[in-house]
Amino acid sequence: MKNVTVVLGAFYGDEGKGKVIDYLSSDNKYAVRYSGGNNAGHSVEVNGAKFAFHLLPSGILYDNVKAILGNGVVIDPKVLIEEIDSLKEKGYKVNNLYISEKAHVILPYHPILDETLEEMRAGNKLGTTKRGIGPAYCDKYERSGIRMEDFISSRFKELLKENIKNKNVILRAYKKPKLKFSEVYKEYKAYAKILKPYVCDTITMLHKAIKKGEKILCEGAQASLLDIDFGSYPYVTSSNPTIGGAITGTGIGARYIGEVYGVIKAYSSRVGAGPFVTELTDATGDRIRELGHEYGVTTKRPRRCGWLDLVSLNYVCMINGLTGLCVNHLDTIGKFDKIKVCVAYKYKGKKTTDFTTNVDFLANCTPVYEEFEGNFGDISKCRSFEELPVNAKKYINRIEELTNTPVKFIGVGAAREEMIVR
Ligand code: IMP
Repeated sequence: MKNVTVVLGAFYGDEGKGKVIDYLSSDNKYAVRYSGGNNAGHSVEVNGAKFAFHLLPSGILYDNVKAILGNGVVIDPKVLIEEIDSLKEKGYKVNNLYISEKAHVILPYHPILDETLEEMRAGNKLGTTKRGIGPAYCDKYERSGIRMEDFISSRFKELLKENIKNKNVILRAYKKPKLKFSEVYKEYKAYAKILKPYVCDTITMLHKAIKKGEKILCEGAQASLLDIDFGSYPYVTSSNPTIGGAITGTGIGARYIGEVYGVIKAYSSRVGAGPFVTELTDATGDRIRELGHEYGVTTKRPRRCGWLDLVSLNYVCMINGLTGLCVNHLDTIGKFDKIKVCVAYKYKGKKTTDFTTNVDFLANCTPVYEEFEGNFGDISKCRSFEELPVNAKKYINRIEELTNTPVKFIGVGAAREEMIVR
């Protein structure tokens, strides 16, 4: 019965979930995205061709996989159509895409409000992707959101009219140009027509698959410490990338979930503002960024980099009930002579391994490091744990020991096949 696997990011996103997802896709019949929208960015390489998706699940690239955008996702129709078109240009038929009728639609006022609210935050910016994600989820919970099933129906006209009327009041207050209903309606009605054939009841679809014993892969977006409840609020995204989101964002009950894999890098990175205890603002941080190519897929922003933080990883293992870890970029960290791992925090002179996302607590914590020998050499050809050099093994063993979670996947290079599966 436990034929559902969840792959989610452990820290602040960009951990390289795509690679594990890609590996698992060949064995799964369904690939489901359950939270977020086009604030995500994942690059996937299949048969030598490179793809950068923001919205589509990577599983879309496999003929044997049905790709689903679950009810927990917020969808910008324009971006989705662009992604579908780009696949079609590369020869994909895209007849394996299914969009939940309960997913909410991002409309033009959402990115405008996202940007405006960031401007208003003046000295306290969140560093959002400005894709309208937060405002779209606000409308969902305020109950003025427009769901896919409304978007593709005749109800769309009235709902849009009402929304634009209300949003124009807000835009006027912020001294922003008003939106013209007729223009937005014309443009978005055309998008709705294109997307209509993909919209369906994905909940029933997934449960029929579960009954047949078919395997389902839930593809996380963003990551655990960006979670609206469990992340470093307010420097978080507006959804639940953690395990609960995989349930509420798909309609799959907890009893069907077997493996829950958390993806980390052998170091840490973060885009946008917010606390980051192991951040390195010196030459070492710059070196991690350059060696790991740490620039955002979605916004191209340079990522903040630092050593691996096992205090926060332990918390992430707990809240998600992780059954396994994937450690990416072992090759990158192995280029350093000495590698540090944060094993405790010092807070007000006392050592602690208890993690909480309270921003004042985190801002006043300093990392307590354990040091490891680096210089792993070229490990990109290693395909089993046993083949790894002793220093690399020690590093992985210590992660397992301190998190009490097995490391099931190890990324040893950028290419798709450069991975150890245990
Ligand atoms: P939003 O999700 O656009 O509202 O942005 C909120 C915060 O989440 C910002 O710090 C973003 O940089 C961050 N964020 C959102 N999506 C991702 C992602 O896929 N990877 C990394 N950071 C993200």
